[in-house]
Amino acid sequence: MAGGEEFELETGELPAERIAPPQSFMEQANVTPAQLQRFTEEGVDAWEMAGDLLTWDEPYRTVFDEDAGDWFPDGQLNAAANCLDRHLADRKNQRALVWEGQLGETRTETYLELSRKVNAFAAGLRDLGVEAGDVVTLHMPVIPELVVAMLACARIGAVHAVVFAGFSAEALATRMAESESAYLVVSDGYYRRGDAVSLTNRAETVRAGLDQEVTTVVVDRLDDRHQYSLGDRDHRYEELLAAHSGETVDPVTRAATDELFLIYTSGTTGKPKRVTHTTGGYLAHTAWTSHAVLDIEPSDTYLCTADIGWITGHSYIVYGPLALGATVLLREGEADQTPKTKLWELVEKHAVDILYTSPTAIRTFMKWGEEYPAESDLSSLRLLGTVGEPINPEVWRWLYEQIGNEECPVVDTWWQTETGGHLITTIPGVDEMQPGTAGPPLPGVEATVVDETGTDVDPNTGGYLAIETPWPGMPRELSTETRWAETSDVLPDSEWAYMTGDGAVMVEDEYVTILGRVDDVINVGGRRYGTLELESIIIGVEDVAEAAVVSGHEDHGQGIYAYANPAAGADETAVRAAINRAIEQQIGSFARPDRIVLTPELPKTSSGKIMRRLLTDIARGNDLGDTSALRNPEVVGEIDSATNSD
Ligand code: WT7
Repeated sequence: MAGGEEFELETGELPAERIAPPQSFMEQANVTPAQLQRFTEEGVDAWEMAGDLLTWDEPYRTVFDEDAGDWFPDGQLNAAANCLDRHLADRKNQRALVWEGQLGETRTETYLELSRKVNAFAAGLRDLGVEAGDVVTLHMPVIPELVVAMLACARIGAVHAVVFAGFSAEALATRMAESESAYLVVSDGYYRRGDAVSLTNRAETVRAGLDQEVTTVVVDRLDDRHQYSLGDRDHRYEELLAAHSGETVDPVTRAATDELFLIYTSGTTGKPKRVTHTTGGYLAHTAWTSHAVLDIEPSDTYLCTADIGWITGHSYIVYGPLALGATVLLREGEADQTPKTKLWELVEKHAVDILYTSPTAIRTFMKWGEEYPAESDLSSLRLLGTVGEPINPEVWRWLYEQIGNEECPVVDTWWQTETGGHLITTIPGVDEMQPGTAGPPLPGVEATVVDETGTDVDPNTGGYLAIETPWPGMPRELSTETRWAETSDVLPDSEWAYMTGDGAVMVEDEYVTILGRVDDVINVGGRRYGTLELESIIIGVEDVAEAAVVSGHEDHGQGIYAYANPAAGADETAVRAAINRAIEQQIGSFARPDRIVLTPELPKTSSGKIMRRLLTDIARGNDLGDTSALRNPEVVGEIDSATNSD
């Protein structure tokens, strides 16, 4: 069973209040209850509704091959052709991308312009030797060139691996080594809250440390702010694009099951976890959920505040919305950038129809105060969505009332890097909403909550969330035959199951409330960190003997809590600095702990295991209960006051 020996089942006391979707929304919603009925009547074949949102070079005859675990196995298509070419007849001069940069710049790319750039860059990549199946690593902030590079890879059947720009050289190198990627498209740098950060030095360090030769393409983002010289195998993006301007590259037909991209996430093993998404199943899933859950239409201007470096950006900035032919507003940098009116000004300026963001960002907006959104006209909004972590009812209400004026449904979408797209959420024109509760599994998806033995728990009882039916966006790692067969005995009553690593409570009518991760992964500010990965970095610091990393309480504005046990007599200031430095070097500064608590001893069970659950309770300010069974109960008070005093 996945992780969590310290996870206790709890009985949920859930607010049962449900809110009907606004009538005006229901009348225009993309999907109706009658359509969704097909999932009840036809089972897995109803996913044809997702497949049919795409244009296929070779139409699929089978929706799902149960033996192999493959979606649309005999279908063939190209993802870039689905996101661009097929829109040209109807909307070549419609904007595909509107970009708002950190320095206040705005750029737009129509579908035709984007398509021309993608063709030229695809020709350029070919010229550099990139072939179908090669892994091309992309390392950039949210700029239009990142979208061009992703779609250019897809066009020629190359597999992109976007590595979030905040990762360190070492983290980038680990990922390039793991994927044996010999191509890197990197920007010269990016702006972090207005400051220029160089990426060319990072690229340099990475190449020096890799076994494979790496061909690099450098995109100009910092203009003259950053000077660098090109090496033998380096190319300037702008020159490559100019050299191939006007060329067209036929989209390479791919099998639905072929890889579209790799993405690395934090797993439980201490190493980055590779997740491989497919061309057909993934694209069908993201297009379907963009249509059915985010209610995106081609005429919409859609804004998602995520970074393209994470799965949310792949699925719901690039692939889903562009497959549907919408106008995507791209924003560089964090969602909660100042001035505090900025996001709302953008919504008004571009008359945004749909806003998809994170509970963390909304919490910040709420703290700032409702006077900031009130300065802008937000009446263009039709739907609001959240993703990444649980949203507490109070924050949900603020979003619904202050931003949506009670006229926009809110979809609280539960999913993961592994799932590729939404799996648990209300359907906005169909289901009632319950603040703080994601909603039912998508039509066509079955979920269950089980105990340690894999047995379903009673409704209203906490347990481990498992998905019992395959879904089109599932990664290749789950569909290969071995994995497919292996999982069949995870739950005694299921033919197949995917353990999500989350705790959850489900009520009779299947509304699911997510409790958070119950494995060795923590979710802080909507981002995911492997506790083993962080702990092993900390233990690697000189003078640190033991470490435990837990997540604090979001409401306290604190995320990653690191507990470490320094050697007697060690200089505490130096140890703290060394821990921060090590994490910055091996992951990136975004993963630095919000709080480092140094303690002579960590709390242990009688068998000598570190009690991470107790540390979590301390970090969250929870009631600690009876700790007398610990091997060293006397340390609890000390750690508590070290954590909770400023
Ligand atoms: C973990 C996955 C999904 C894209 C962004 C994060 C948590 C995600 C919700 C939600 C409660 C949520 C889960 C999940 N999570 N969405 N609506 N309510 N929790 O992707 O980095 O793979 O993280 O995010 O804990 O397991 P990820």
